[in-house]
Amino acid sequence: MEQLIVNRRSCRRYLDKNVDPQIINRILSVMAAAPTGGNSCNVEYTVIDDKDRVKEIWQLAYSKMEADAKKHIYTNSFSDFYYGKMKQSEKTVRKNDLLFCGAPHLFIAHEKCAGKWAEDSKVNCNIATAYFELIANAFGLGTVIMSYPAEVLQELAPKARAMLNIPQDHYMKLIVGFGYPEIEYARGVQKDKNHKIHRYTKS
Ligand SMILES: Cc1cc2nc3c(=O)[nH]c(=O)nc-3n(C[C@H](O)[C@H](O)[C@H](O)COP(=O)(O)O)c2cc1C
Repeated sequence: MEQLIVNRRSCRRYLDKNVDPQIINRILSVMAAAPTGGNSCNVEYTVIDDKDRVKEIWQLAYSKMEADAKKHIYTNSFSDFYYGKMKQSEKTVRKNDLLFCGAPHLFIAHEKCAGKWAEDSKVNCNIATAYFELIANAFGLGTVIMSYPAEVLQELAPKARAMLNIPQDHYMKLIVGFGYPEIEYARGVQKDKNHKIHRYTKS
């Protein structure tokens, strides 16, 4: 587990190939053990495991996003500046696809989000997302957790969102792109070792 976490990296280059359904089934059966608040087990998983279906959703969402950008209409967290940066990244890290990072498959954890347990519902989805990412990597797949395309589907491209068949009252903040990685990384990255850790240790 330590090695997996230290060496995991986001993948934005994939083989143009569907992942073996048996591997996806194994990952999803492991996911049933992910914790949920009060053991409610209400979190649902939507998996687009056919790359052609992902392409259909992508085409609708990407073309709407581009048309809106021409009118300076962006998602809540974006602007001319950030969109310009993302567009530039299509020449480098997000080759030709700032939206789904070229991922052939999508995984979305979502849950009806209402009432006094609404905050737990959100956390359940985010835990499931993190678990999925790690388990998929353990099976040798590449993954990228993405919030931007979830925003595009929610805010700009309702027709593309409808293709997911996820109810409107479900929390859906993160999308995991996954597939067979085109590039194997030789090592992990060293991140900021000075991030804040507050310890209260008896001396
Ligand atoms: C909440 C969250 C949202 C993210 N959204 C995006 C995204 O929309 N597009 C993208 O390419 N990467 C996205 N990422 C991936 C981060 O950019 C990536 O994890 C970070 O740069 C660290 O790189 P690493 O995953 O290789 O360690 C997201 C990650 C998280 C945790």
